[in-house]
Amino acid sequence: MTSDIRPQPGIMDIALYVGGAATVAGKTNTIKLSSNENPFGPSDKAKEAFGRSVHALHRYPNTDHAALREAIADVQHLDADRVICGVGSDEIIHFLCQAYAGPGDEVLFTEHGFLMYRISAMAAGATPVEVPERERTTDVGALLAACNERTKLVFIANPNNPTGTMISAAEVAQLAEGLPPQAILVLDGAYAEYVDGYDGGLSLIEQRDNVVMTRTFSKIYGLGGLRIGWGYGPKAIIDVLNRIRGPFNLSNTQLEAAEAAMRDQDYINRCRADNARMRVWLAEALAEVGVPSDTSLANFVLARFADAAEAEACDAFLCDQGLIVRRVAGYKLPHCLRITVGDESACRRVAHAVAQFKGKR
Ligand SMILES: Cc1ncc(COP(=O)(O)O)c(C=O)c1O
Repeated sequence: MTSDIRPQPGIMDIALYVGGAATVAGKTNTIKLSSNENPFGPSDKAKEAFGRSVHALHRYPNTDHAALREAIADVQHLDADRVICGVGSDEIIHFLCQAYAGPGDEVLFTEHGFLMYRISAMAAGATPVEVPERERTTDVGALLAACNERTKLVFIANPNNPTGTMISAAEVAQLAEGLPPQAILVLDGAYAEYVDGYDGGLSLIEQRDNVVMTRTFSKIYGLGGLRIGWGYGPKAIIDVLNRIRGPFNLSNTQLEAAEAAMRDQDYINRCRADNARMRVWLAEALAEVGVPSDTSLANFVLARFADAAEAEACDAFLCDQGLIVRRVAGYKLPHCLRITVGDESACRRVAHAVAQFKGKR
C-alpha cells in the first residue's frame, strides 16, 4: 500500500457504527434487548417462504422486485411504481445521500437522531448538521431555522430512535411546507408500525413532491437478520434512486420472505398489540423504582438515570445477570439506557433487575 492511495476526503472521519451487543463474556442464558428486534421473530409464513427459497439459490433474483413491491403496495394502498426496496432501510438512506447530497451540501438530522444519517451524509462527501431537540423530541422550528440554500436532505425518524418520542402529523406537514425548495424531507418510519393507526406519513407524501418515507422489515416484521427495507416517494425521486441501486441488491430469499411477511398483517397486528401492552408495563415498572422515561411509541423504552455513572453502573449490573441493553452515549444520552420491549418474561426480568439495582427489591 503506498501513501498515494487515499480514500475520498472525509471518509476517514466517519466513526464506525457499533451495533447493539449480542453476547456477554462468560454468560450463556442471555436476553438481548439491545437492537429493537421483535422478540417473537418473523411470522411463520415468512419462515416458510424463506425455506422454499432454498430451491432457487442457483437463480439470480429479478432486478425489479416487482412481486415484493406489489405486495407492499397492496397492503399499504400505495403505487407500486413508487416503491423502492433495499438492503435494510439503511440502504435507502444511503441512496438518498448518494443521489442528492455531495461536497458543499448539508444534511440535517436531529440531536439524538439515528447515527446512519451522519454516516451516509459523510460517505457522500456532504456536511452533516445536527439540530437540537426539545426535551428529546424533534423540534420543527429548530430544523427550519437550520435550513439554508445548501440544505439538501432533512432526516427525521418518527417515532425517533433512541428517544421513542414522536411529533404530530401537523408538525411534520409544517416541516415539509417550510423547507427550502431544493431540500427533501425524509420520514424514517422504522418504528411506524408500532403506532396504532399511523400511516408513516403516506398521506403527506401523496400531497407533496418533497417528502420520501423509509420503512423496514427489521423491526416489527422480525427480519433484521435478513436485511430488507423499502422507501416510498414521488416517482421522480424513486427513479433517481433506482439508477444507483445495484440491480441484484436483494436476493430471492430476502424478496420472498419479505413478501410473505408483508402479506401476513394478522401477525403484525398481534405483535403491535403485545408490544403496546408490555411497553406500558415496562415503563411503569421502571418509573415505580425511580427510573423515568418519555412516553415511547416504539418497541423500546429510553430509561433515564441520575447521571452517566448511574446508567453505566446499571448497565454493568444488568450484564452481570445476562441482560443486554443499549448504552446510548453515542446518541448524546450518556445518562440513559435504551431497553427493547421483549416478551413478557424478558420485561419482567429486566424490570426486576433494575429494581434490585436501585435497591428497591
Ligand atoms: C430510526 C432507524 N432508522 C433506520 C434503521 C435501519 O434499519 P434497517 O437498516 O435494519 O432497515 C434503524 C435501525 O435500528 C433505526 O432505528
